Amino acid sequence: MVDGRNHPRSDRATEPLGALRRAVDDLHQAVDERSSLGTAGLDVHRYGSSLVALARVLPGVEQALVRYGDGRFPFVPLTPLLVADVRSLGLDIDLEIDDSARSTESVGYDDGGSWWGAMYVMQGSRLGSTVIAERLAVDLPDVPRSYFDAAATDARPAWAAFRVAARAAFDGGQADLDRAVHSARAVFDALLVELVRADEPVVREGVAT
Ligand code: HEM
Repeated sequence: MVDGRNHPRSDRATEPLGALRRAVDDLHQAVDERSSLGTAGLDVHRYGSSLVALARVLPGVEQALVRYGDGRFPFVPLTPLLVADVRSLGLDIDLEIDDSARSTESVGYDDGGSWWGAMYVMQGSRLGSTVIAERLAVDLPDVPRSYFDAAATDARPAWAAFRVAARAAFDGGQADLDRAVHSARAVFDALLVELVRADEPVVREGVAT
């Protein structure tokens, strides 16, 4: 478990954010424990693999959030920065983005609940980015990190604004909240799967690297 997430978490969040937090807590814990991003001592190789893993999921999600944003909450996609960092590391990346947001096809995005659920994951991940950006600055000061730096910038005020907007957006309808929970879990799970896979050793001619 990482230090950042051991901070006492404020339990002031009321529904629907409390429900969303509880719904993804197991997935967040799994990312903390099973991905390189959640463990201290990230090396440049695993950092690059983790960026590629994020780039398999985030571009599609961000594109869908913009497309169906409908003025709900200001959102600036960070995909260009993520891709720039991956390419600066000399890594190859296949960016086939489609409207259904690859690997989160079960999320509709066009209904309010799904949109807020996915946005919850995006905004929440910026809180984690503050921890990751700080660690990178110390452990790997020379790696390109425009994505994590941008995600971390003003993450706390953005989170506060998101909480206000999300509370106002839900009218208490259980169906909306159910869709938000489904969406949040689908996006989070897609990220978890890719991040954990990125850390698996690659076996070449019988030698694990
Ligand atoms: C796929 C990657 C990740 C996603 C999608 C993600 C998502 C989230 C979400 C949704 C929240 C808000 C929880 C709430 O409702 O209060 C959150 C909070 C947080 N995350 Fe992550 N996270 C990720 C990775 C990480 C990692 C790797 C770390 C640690 C290095 C981390 C550290 C934190 C911290 C410190 C908070 C704030 C907790 C608090 O102040 O209550 N996250 N994250």
